[in-house]
Amino acid sequence: MSSDRLLSVLTCPLCPSALERTAGALRCAERHTFDIARHGYVSLLTGHRRAPSADSPGMVRSRAAFLGAGHYAPLARTLARLASELAPPDGIVVDAGAGTGHYLAAVLDALPRALGLGLDSSTAALRTAARSHVRARAAGWDVWRPWPVRTGCADLVLNVFAPRNGPEFHRVLGPDGALLVVTPTGRHLRELRGPLGLLEVDPRKEERLRRSLGVTFRLEGTELLEWVMRLPADDVACLVGMSPTAHHLTGGQLSDRVGRLGDPVPVTASFAVSVYRPVRAGQ
Ligand SMILES: C[S@@+](CC[C@H](N)C(=O)[O-])C[C@H]1O[C@@H](n2cnc3c(N)ncnc32)[C@H](O)[C@@H]1O
Ligand SMILES: [Zn+2]
Repeated sequence: MSSDRLLSVLTCPLCPSALERTAGALRCAERHTFDIARHGYVSLLTGHRRAPSADSPGMVRSRAAFLGAGHYAPLARTLARLASELAPPDGIVVDAGAGTGHYLAAVLDALPRALGLGLDSSTAALRTAARSHVRARAAGWDVWRPWPVRTGCADLVLNVFAPRNGPEFHRVLGPDGALLVVTPTGRHLRELRGPLGLLEVDPRKEERLRRSLGVTFRLEGTELLEWVMRLPADDVACLVGMSPTAHHLTGGQLSDRVGRLGDPVPVTASFAVSVYRPVRAGQ
């Protein structure tokens, strides 16, 4: 982290005063100190176990390879376009469960002076996210816990296939801020679910999302985004490797089943991209 505007976005998770940069660390007035890793991210989770849902290094490698091949580029473009409509060019963007920082970087490209903070609990993801964009920083945090982020500082919160903490989304967003949430629809990867034994998408996912955001957010609109990818077998393996299904199949079982699908494999990508606005008391 450099001593820049993003530093004023973070608060100490233990007291919670402002953080300042010292040699190789961030420190608050009470001298709580958080090391900046060699890879450029700061872990604010000192003393806490990492979230059990954090992506493993193997999952992060698979995700980086799959996204790097451009298969989800239409989603990145959609998020970049919406961000440029929703946030000021010099705004603050917080990505909750940022993973490799792929979408945070796409959004920052569309907002020429904006700064981005990626929160994630996976060390492997943070290493990549910290280098995802020159205006992005990454902090280790469990997004289920109250965030070490200043109230009302964010213009845009991104949440792409990651855990949702409605009260914290609401607290960190400024009054004109927006929340962008991406969820897979029931048609996402439908060609692979049977043959590869992938977990089904919960058909009530959108409904659960709305309920988790409660009455404190108003849905402004949803774009449905769907296209067919033509995936080389290696990239199908990456796609499976980056999902929770990765835990259910051995490497041998996976390559056997992928081998039977042909090469390339037509696979549907299908997402709901929703824009929410925070509702303030009295609105
Ligand atoms: C499915 S990945 C999505 C990553 C990224 N948004 C993307 O779409 O490429 C979910 C991410 O959420 C992170 N995650 C899971 N539980 C978390 C938690 N409790 N706190 C912070 N991050 C968490 C994982 O480590 C992983 O990077
Ligand atoms: Zn402190």
